[in-house]
Amino acid sequence: MELDIASASIVDVYYLLTGIVTPRPIAWVSTLSLTGVVNLAPFSFFNAFGANPPVVAFSPSLRRDGSKKDTLLNLEALPEFVLNAATAPLLEQVNLSSKELPPDESEVALTGLSTIASVKVRPPRVAESPVSMECRVRQIIPCGTGPISANIVIGEVLMMHIADEVLDEAGRVDPRKLRTVARLGADYWCHTSDLFEMKRP
Ligand SMILES: Cc1cc2nc3c(=O)[nH]c(=O)nc-3n(C[C@H](O)[C@H](O)[C@H](O)COP(=O)(O)O)c2cc1C
Repeated sequence: MELDIASASIVDVYYLLTGIVTPRPIAWVSTLSLTGVVNLAPFSFFNAFGANPPVVAFSPSLRRDGSKKDTLLNLEALPEFVLNAATAPLLEQVNLSSKELPPDESEVALTGLSTIASVKVRPPRVAESPVSMECRVRQIIPCGTGPISANIVIGEVLMMHIADEVLDEAGRVDPRKLRTVARLGADYWCHTSDLFEMKRP
């Protein structure tokens, strides 16, 4: 099979791209609306890109009708967010928080989760998640105006909250304790429990 993007359907491209670029980590992002509603949503167009300063990026794409998601609207108004770890014990809540709610309804209430005030940013963090990173937006890069076009949110991590239970003796994150989940194509997800170690040359 070969696909020329210039003549392909957007939805086909979306399913192929997200089936190929796998697994993708999940940013579980809390933001705050100007009216004080805490928004929570998962984004798997996500990764970290450097450590000095620590920089992350994720993309709330435009909806299929071309409108902006609540997360993007909130960040345009208040450019701060918290990245909460999406872990195996929180799988159901992570998925449920992807429900498209009206902007004045919070996914925090829907999922039955609770929040803790952040230290350096105004959006709170998810209390039940073992890791949260407080971030300030450095830049938002729109990459198109049509359905499913990207809006790359580049954020700088200002503060990390890491539960001692997910650390090893050296103070590093132990993946067997953190147990993040990740996203593949369609409705496939994966656990991070099938691990192996390999030394770098
Ligand atoms: C695991 C998972 C990953 C997702 N990744 C993305 C993503 O990278 N970009 C995106 O725009 N939507 C993604 N979604 C869909 C959004 O979470 C969904 O549109 C959500 O309602 C957006 O919330 P908001 O309108 O409150 O910002 C994902 C959904 C799930 C369940």
